[in-house]
Amino acid sequence: MDKFIINGGKKISGEVNISGAKNAVLPLMTAALLVDGKTTINSVPDLRDTRTMMRLLNIIGAEASLKANSMCINASKINNLEAPYDLVKTMRASFYVLGPLLARFGEVRVSLPGGCAWGPRPVDFHLKGLEKLGAEISLESGYIMAKAKRLYGNKICFDFPSVGATGNILMASVLARGETCIENAAKEPEIVQLCHVLNNMGANIGGIGSSKIIVNGVDNLNPIDIDVIPDRIEAGTYLIAGAVMGDITLNNCNPKHLKDVLDKLKLAGANISSNENSISINKIDSISAVDVTTEVYPGFPTDLQAQWMAFMSIANGRSSIVDTVYHDRFTHIPELIRLGADIRLNGNKAEINGVEKLIGAQVMSTDIRASAALILGAIIAEGKTEISRVYHIDRGYDSIEKKFQSLGVDIVRVNE
Ligand code: UD1
Repeated sequence: MDKFIINGGKKISGEVNISGAKNAVLPLMTAALLVDGKTTINSVPDLRDTRTMMRLLNIIGAEASLKANSMCINASKINNLEAPYDLVKTMRASFYVLGPLLARFGEVRVSLPGGCAWGPRPVDFHLKGLEKLGAEISLESGYIMAKAKRLYGNKICFDFPSVGATGNILMASVLARGETCIENAAKEPEIVQLCHVLNNMGANIGGIGSSKIIVNGVDNLNPIDIDVIPDRIEAGTYLIAGAVMGDITLNNCNPKHLKDVLDKLKLAGANISSNENSISINKIDSISAVDVTTEVYPGFPTDLQAQWMAFMSIANGRSSIVDTVYHDRFTHIPELIRLGADIRLNGNKAEINGVEKLIGAQVMSTDIRASAALILGAIIAEGKTEISRVYHIDRGYDSIEKKFQSLGVDIVRVNE
């Protein structure tokens, strides 16, 4: 198992290219299953999760290959309508095969994802939505069986604007008969891109980017070429690194997707300039404490909550972070405390009392974003930090140590 060794406390500078978005490419890869033909996806980040999804597509019988960030998926010879437990348990986004396979082939068997590192993450919205479209759903030996000779449009209203459920229902309803109305739909940029891609394939989706999406089913879709949008969470992580340790510029990012994060960074004292696809940020001399509450898009993303906490751990004064999306996503707190942070958790609210400095220590990754927070903590901390279980971070950050090395961070990967 790999670990990172970081000698922190040093100023960083330079430029970093942001990769394609993990949370955009995963549903796009499964959207390719809707098409009898070859889809090409460009700007694919080389991640453990994109490789896991590729393995899953290959198991299903879709030929998927990745070369120089360009992925080809040929879904003309699908011959196995099952997503096995071994893969789904390592990546919940495998559940995205449910909607497209059901819509195109009329049946699918997908392992029910278990809990994840920070608690239960149910899939009831996905299943209730598919039932509304006419699917028969049953649970057999830990697997969801979904069947429907034909799906029929209906009105679906989510209790919460779930990203995954919106994506799954979109991919199922594009081939359903008649009109589907998704109310309280997710508005995240990754869902907006999925809608545009499906329309380019020949789907008929309206209300894109609003909380009410209307889908008029079509009989079939056509293969296309896709460019994945930049990863706003990766960008936000590097922006926080810049705010604490140096003057850096991010290329290939979309500042519009980061508006709330940029506003919060400015409140903390950051000097930021941006144009259409790049953002520059300078090290903040005296970081102001800024409270954050995570919300669905366009609010502050839960996927940057842990990184913001590492940032606030050295701010001047007290701040609080409330996670309204995942109430128990706080496994990074004990690890940040090992680096010297002063954080107290009460329900879904963390209170952070800024300290003067962090000191390197041995810490452990627990999930993708928690690991990113530990890398930020290690960059801030004086001395040596060892981060174990970095396979978590490899799930969601392309070439993270190489990108940080190019900014002057003393970080190496070693095999334990
Ligand atoms: C996606 C992202 C993840 C991000 C999350 C919230 C991907 C691959 N992952 O996850 O990085 O943190 O959005 O922005 O895109 N819920 C239910 N029932 C359901 C579905 C969701 O109760 O059937 C709840 C969840 O427990 C959670 C909330 O709804 O409290 C939001 O979850 P959701 O938007 O579905 O997250 P994911 O799509 O799993």
